[in-house]
Amino acid sequence: MKLGVNIDHVATLRNARKTSYPDPLKAAEIAIDAGADFITVHLREDRRHIRDEDVFNLKKNIKTELNLEIAATEEMLEIAKKVKPYSICIVPEKREELTTEGGLDITNMCNTLANIIEEMYDVGIKVSLFINPNIDQLKHLEKLKRKPDIIEIHTGGYCDNPSEEKFKLITNAAEYINKLKMECHAGHGITCTHAKRIKEIPHISALNIGHSLVSEAIFYGLHSVVKTMKMTVSS
Ligand code: PXP
Repeated sequence: MKLGVNIDHVATLRNARKTSYPDPLKAAEIAIDAGADFITVHLREDRRHIRDEDVFNLKKNIKTELNLEIAATEEMLEIAKKVKPYSICIVPEKREELTTEGGLDITNMCNTLANIIEEMYDVGIKVSLFINPNIDQLKHLEKLKRKPDIIEIHTGGYCDNPSEEKFKLITNAAEYINKLKMECHAGHGITCTHAKRIKEIPHISALNIGHSLVSEAIFYGLHSVVKTMKMTVSS
């Protein structure tokens, strides 16, 4: 199973003080050095964390694949065509939400998605769709003449409040996606504990993880940086 590391919240921290650090590119390089298979960033309409220049900078400098999460808007699709990431992941986006709260409602989006898939196929960018583990939603994919390359299952519902019933929904969704011959990824809210469980599900080939990794990194790094600062101020 591959690991995609989402570094949005490194940019959240940088933007909170309007500084140039911590630099998302540096975070990406550390993640790749530690074994990340690809890097994911979400360029939001309000640019609350990752900014346009971060995306171009990452594409230019990292040696793994870049997965760019965007809303299905003209503006974002134009940026994607300029950046040419390995893949784009189409996500729903609401300005007031804290994070991507649900998957795409593809019931009414089939034509829009079909056009995006064609447009990106023509320029060699893979398309992923972020969808809840809901077979009724996934069924609409059968209508698409050209299928997306990847479906990413939204695991937030399970991770926020795990239950066997929700785990089964993810398992069933992964099986359905595999039957339709698409790659199946999963992401949102995944901690190490959740990852141990989710990796048991057949057909999921990659996990996208961000918030828990950046949160844990604080505790793994804080001891060392405080020690360095203490030595600096007391010597
Ligand atoms: N996958 C998608 C499509 C997302 O939108 C996000 C959040 O940006 C993630 C994965 C990562 O979620 P988390 O930060 O909770 O690990």
